[in-house]
Amino acid sequence: MERSEINIYECKWKHCAVLAEIGATTFYDTFRPFNTEEDMQSYLKSNYTQEKIKSNLSTSGIHYLLGYLANEDQGYVKLIENPTGLNLEGKVMELEKIYLRPSAQGSGLAKQLIELAFKKSRNLGFDTLYLGVWQENDRALSFYKKMGFEIFDTRKFQLGSRLCEDYLLYIRL
Ligand SMILES: CC(C)(COP(=O)(O)OP(=O)(O)OC[C@H]1O[C@@H](n2cnc3c(N)ncnc32)[C@H](O)[C@@H]1OP(=O)(O)O)[C@@H](O)C(=O)NCCC(=O)NCCS
Repeated sequence: MERSEINIYECKWKHCAVLAEIGATTFYDTFRPFNTEEDMQSYLKSNYTQEKIKSNLSTSGIHYLLGYLANEDQGYVKLIENPTGLNLEGKVMELEKIYLRPSAQGSGLAKQLIELAFKKSRNLGFDTLYLGVWQENDRALSFYKKMGFEIFDTRKFQLGSRLCEDYLLYIRL
């Protein structure tokens, strides 16, 4: 892909529609081949509505960064402070989502988004970033390993009728 200018912004309420739309379309494009339409629609309804995003945006400790390539919104990162129930030491931030439209994958935007997530987490006093990823999401796993994350645990994740196995990864900031 041709290199284009990248800009990244902290999200405010006015971004809720675009975050919901990128989230829903990227989730659908990435995971529909592995799940039933019914399970996908049910997950979309409970996770990617504008109301859900608005509620997240007004919750203290949840942060979104939205990335643009050549002035077009192309992907985002969602961070959550102090996740619980982990077998992990330190002051931990969760990288709960990183979703790029297919047109922006491979562009370098994901690297810049995640590097800004590292910086923001450090500035807020966190020393560790953690995330969960489906074990068969080879592209995401390659990306996280390339960025320096290491596997430290596994967990199960229920998506409708399907039980998925996730890896948990971390990086010290
Ligand atoms: C995961 C994601 C953020 C990564 O961003 P990206 O721009 O695609 O990442 P990059 O292209 O920089 O890195 C991906 C690496 O995986 C490699 N790759 C691509 N397809 C692959 C595949 N099927 N299997 C293994 N590796 C693959 C790429 O070659 C690249 O490695 P390289 O830079 O050494 O060539 C992005 O692909 C995305 O948003 N995917 C859809 C949503 C998603 O799965 N999010 C993560 C959920 S946990």
